[in-house]
Amino acid sequence: MSGSLRRKLALRFAATMAAGLLLATGAFYWAASRALQESVPPDVLRRDLLLVLASIVVAGTAATLMGAWHFTSSAVRPVTEITAQATGIEAGTLDQRILAHADTEEYEGLVAVLNRMLERLERGFASQGRLTADVSHELRTPLTALRGEIEVALRAPRSQREYERVLRSGLEEIERLTELSEDLLLVTRAEAHLVSAQRVATDVERLVGERLDRLRQRFAERDLSVAGTLRVPQPTVLVDPELMVRLVDHLLENALQFTPVGGTIQVRLEPIPAGGGLRFAVENSGPRIAAADLPYLFEPFYRADPARTRTDGGGTGLGLALVASIARLHGGVARASSAAGQSTRFEVDIPALPAN
Ligand SMILES: Nc1ncnc2c1ncn2[C@@H]1O[C@H](COP(=O)(O)OP(=O)(O)O)[C@@H](O)[C@H]1O
Ligand SMILES: [Mg+2]
Repeated sequence: MSGSLRRKLALRFAATMAAGLLLATGAFYWAASRALQESVPPDVLRRDLLLVLASIVVAGTAATLMGAWHFTSSAVRPVTEITAQATGIEAGTLDQRILAHADTEEYEGLVAVLNRMLERLERGFASQGRLTADVSHELRTPLTALRGEIEVALRAPRSQREYERVLRSGLEEIERLTELSEDLLLVTRAEAHLVSAQRVATDVERLVGERLDRLRQRFAERDLSVAGTLRVPQPTVLVDPELMVRLVDHLLENALQFTPVGGTIQVRLEPIPAGGGLRFAVENSGPRIAAADLPYLFEPFYRADPARTRTDGGGTGLGLALVASIARLHGGVARASSAAGQSTRFEVDIPALPAN
């Protein structure tokens, strides 16, 4: 049975006081009735009365002290238990929960709040641990490839051309590692609130148009038809142009990579239907992403198809995590949807501030 701590304390306090008052009244009644019946001389009566009052004060104080000691100890016992249990919980034992003997609403509330906090911390630590494991894995693969290639090249004398080939392929691996570390740095720094968007007046229509033009050749190579409407009422808005370029590039490159040959891609830059700001959306044909994968797409290194790794010529696995981070840095959100109509859509809403 749980009740309110305040009510419990008030009742126990009142009970102690009532017992004390009862005792005092009884003693006083005894002294007064004795005086009335036995016509005690006044100085004896005065002495008796003083004695009774003094013993009432002493006994009452002692009783109150004992009562108060007892009920305050029972009231603070859960605090001692909670403190002892919480002290034992550290990074390695975040799966523990506080099980204090909390039989009052206030302590039940406190224990529930602490346990929910532990749950959030446990999830946070687990995701950090996963990220570290993923990073180590993603680093090991290209480093092993690089090392193998150099070792083979050094095993016997090679022609100038052969050395050049090895160096070029090594450089490619190094470029990918650099890209991976840069992406990772931005994602983790954004998560830790260590970076902010440097918003300057930027012509977003032009920015998106230029990024699209840069990729036209590669779209054509895969026979992808690209249609786009880039229209916002106020093309010049305050955004971080460098971050916006990375966001737009990542979404376009994903479309380039995941749309089956001969497919179609729709690129849109439009105002958010309700409220200010702009929406950048990329939609492509191709097999839909399973609904179970959608919520995790923006997590670092999550791949809807686990068989596919970066060695297949894919990205770093951080593209969408980066897109989400950049959106958040601008106070916006990134969303993914994949409808039954066999298409996949990524959209980013940025509450853009007009430049003038
Ligand atoms: N346009 C897209 N169409 C279909 N699937 C996509 C698209 N973009 C991303 N995905 C899925 O989301 C996953 C994560 O994407 P991303 O973070 O960019 O990493 P990467 O491209 O390096 O694999 C991809 O592996 C893919 O499964
Ligand atoms: Mg990608």
